[in-house]
Amino acid sequence: MTPDKAEDEGNEDVEMVEIFVMGKRYRVPKGLTIMTALEYAGYKFTRGCGCRGGFCGACSTVFRTEDEYKLKMDLACQTAVEDGMFLVQLPFMPAVRAMYDIEEVEPEEHDNILLDHYPEIARCVSCNTCTKACPQDIEVMDYVQAALRGDVERCADLSFDCIQCGLCSIRCPADIKHYHMAQMARRITGRYIHEHSDELEKRVQEIKNGEYDETMKEMVEMEIDKLKKTYEERDIREEG
Ligand code: SF4
Ligand code: SF4
Ligand code: FES
Repeated sequence: MTPDKAEDEGNEDVEMVEIFVMGKRYRVPKGLTIMTALEYAGYKFTRGCGCRGGFCGACSTVFRTEDEYKLKMDLACQTAVEDGMFLVQLPFMPAVRAMYDIEEVEPEEHDNILLDHYPEIARCVSCNTCTKACPQDIEVMDYVQAALRGDVERCADLSFDCIQCGLCSIRCPADIKHYHMAQMARRITGRYIHEHSDELEKRVQEIKNGEYDETMKEMVEMEIDKLKKTYEERDIREEG
């Protein structure tokens, strides 16, 4: 993220709030998200911004306000600016990810395949800080506990909505890499635990054949409000 323009002037037509970006003061319209406020202030995102809709996890942000000692964390595209906010963007979370070959992590052949690759999960002190930090309201501590019990499928289910933002890991006193571990659980579940799906295979083949290229192009070019509406109105087929 680099500043193009220093915007420090108030606008009389709209209520303004004061924010600090890496220590520099800006006045921005109230009601903007942190992401749009940064852009209003003249910053251009080259990293740390993706979907702008709370789905990709690219825009983790740490902030505090003057009257509070606590550091808070959230997604920049989903959080409104507040007066007196001090902001730092985290375009990348430097958490270690275990390396493995998916063909060699059959859960039946190991006592606890997740624990083998992420031994730090045994240090969980059940403080629930990770769950409180999650912008997706995922029961993060519960999926860590499921992993500890060796219940790969439960870990995968509970973490299904994870967007890999990394906010759960920042304050974990046990230094656990929750989201990398849970991603492994989902991969193992897909590869070894869930039944083979002919439908999925068919869909992958359709994608490979380019049958969705035109639809994808339309969506990429779609206006954001129409895109949101399309997403909200999509068909969701219940399992069973
Ligand atoms: S923050 Fe870390 S130690 Fe605390 S419950 Fe979550 S995983 Fe366990
Ligand atoms: S589980 Fe962690 S990485 Fe996943 S969405 Fe929640 S805070 Fe982000
Ligand atoms: S930009 Fe994708 S979650 Fe914020």
